[in-house]
Amino acid sequence: MGASILTARNLSKVVPSAEGELTILHELSLELNKGDSLAIVGASGSGKSTLLGLLAGLDLPSGGEVVLAGQALSTLDEDQRARVRAEHVGFVFQSFQLLDSLNALENVMLPLELDGRKDARARATELLERVGLGRRLSHSPRQLSGGEQQRVAIARAFAAEPDVLFADEPTGNLDSHTGERISDLLFELNQERGTTLVLVTHDERLAHRCRRLIRLEAGLLVAPLEP
Ligand SMILES: Nc1ncnc2c1ncn2[C@@H]1O[C@H](COP(=O)(O)OP(=O)(O)O)[C@@H](O)[C@H]1O
Ligand SMILES: [Mg+2]
Repeated sequence: MGASILTARNLSKVVPSAEGELTILHELSLELNKGDSLAIVGASGSGKSTLLGLLAGLDLPSGGEVVLAGQALSTLDEDQRARVRAEHVGFVFQSFQLLDSLNALENVMLPLELDGRKDARARATELLERVGLGRRLSHSPRQLSGGEQQRVAIARAFAAEPDVLFADEPTGNLDSHTGERISDLLFELNQERGTTLVLVTHDERLAHRCRRLIRLEAGLLVAPLEP
């Protein structure tokens, strides 16, 4: 039995719509331990990104609660939630979301500098070497391929040594070979550092490498797969 790092209890999200209230997530519960890996799968529009946003404290639920690294997120204000995220969470998005005005090294250094770390440059360099981009430090995102940009995004997400890495379709914009390399990298870092992975994905191979998998259908959890 490992230590719990992320718990969701009866999580719901209801949004207003022209036809009245729309439930986009219904009473979902799950618990993850340190070092776990979870795949969230389901058709487009089934609520995957909504769930990820709630678990990461980017959005607040209409009902239920999320406990991340021992903190009940709904009891915190926006600044406090931002601090929990900065301390415990990393993100990787389908669209990479790197800053074009910064080179690869600077993109990875940014969260470390914001965190006041004196070793930002050395640590960012080491991470980029780790993801195979030691010779691309001064390249701008525009000069990098999609796979290289996603590796920079992963280095950036791992920079602050998060307890949980959230990724929304991290291989979605990549060819299958490059996607496989990105998956390898995520699981290497998961094994080496015990980082918990929470991945939204359409990529069957990536999903099945995770220790646990949940499937959403119209905001309902339909297939929990226990370890
Ligand atoms: N803020 C919102 N307001 C209204 N509808 C939303 C909002 N966010 C998401 N939705 C709707 O909720 C459903 C689930 O969205 P989403 O979580 O993005 O699905 P997925 O990531 O699985 O494709 C979709 O039908 C989407 O249009
Ligand atoms: Mg989505």
